Amino acid sequence: MRHLAVSAAVAAGALALTACGGSGDPGGTKADLSVSSSYIPQPVSDMAAGFLTIVNKGGAKDALTSVTSDAAGSVTLHRTAGQSMRQVTSLDVPAHGRLVLETGGNHLMFEKLKRKPKQGEKVTVELHFADSGPIKVEMPVKPATYQPMNGH
Ligand code: CU
Repeated sequence: MRHLAVSAAVAAGALALTACGGSGDPGGTKADLSVSSSYIPQPVSDMAAGFLTIVNKGGAKDALTSVTSDAAGSVTLHRTAGQSMRQVTSLDVPAHGRLVLETGGNHLMFEKLKRKPKQGEKVTVELHFADSGPIKVEMPVKPATYQPMNGH
């Protein structure tokens, strides 16, 4: 799986470079966040993982502090360290940088799913940040074995 994670990092890097030419607030002092590459592998139990990239075009850092969704009883932020994962209270989004949630790394954990979302459906989540306003994201449900770099 290691080579797949590297490919994802390369793809995300290309994305960030493209974003640098955008408007935003490059010399400014506020975070300017956008979300891309979000997906949920179709869950096999009442738990699901979620992956996305948060790009910050602004000159100030921010942090993802919580996630809510009508589809799940709870959504938590998880950090993966080696073979184990642990829940964290926030994940930093650096200034002029990005927060990447990807297979084998940081991820969202949906628990107590109210129903099992199927491939092709979308799950609506709301991302909450330390400084920026909330962002609503429609996360597409992909096959359980989906790897994002297959599309590149
Ligand atoms: Cu986890």
